[in-house]
Amino acid sequence: MDPRNIGGMEKPDCHVEVLGTCGDNMELWLKVNNDTITDATFTTNGCSATIACGSMMTEMAKNKTLGEALTISAKRLIEELGGLPEDHTHCAGLASLTLKRAVIEYTNLKKEPWKKPYKENEIRNNPFRVNELEAE
Ligand code: FES
Repeated sequence: MDPRNIGGMEKPDCHVEVLGTCGDNMELWLKVNNDTITDATFTTNGCSATIACGSMMTEMAKNKTLGEALTISAKRLIEELGGLPEDHTHCAGLASLTLKRAVIEYTNLKKEPWKKPYKENEIRNNPFRVNELEAE
């Protein structure tokens, strides 16, 4: 009922968009310092469960190392939220996988920083799509 960290971000270190199996999206922006996530914001065109999951995911990701962020699973999000309706557990999968995708994207950009200006177009034109196996 009180979602946190909604919206875009000025000068993020990383931005990703992921499409879930239901067709809804989540975008995530991260600021990272010394491999620690210092800020995280998100938007989604998905359901209220996804808003809750994005809110919890961004709260949990802040002040975590990139490695620690990878351990924020759908199961952990559901536990922290005190449960989700059975037919909305995939919404936690979307939030968890969006965070994982952002960590991968940040790591790749760190290796090849010259690609960053080209990434925004790529994200807009070809968002990452979650497949059924990843969503579980
Ligand atoms: S994200 Fe599509 S139903 Fe929740």
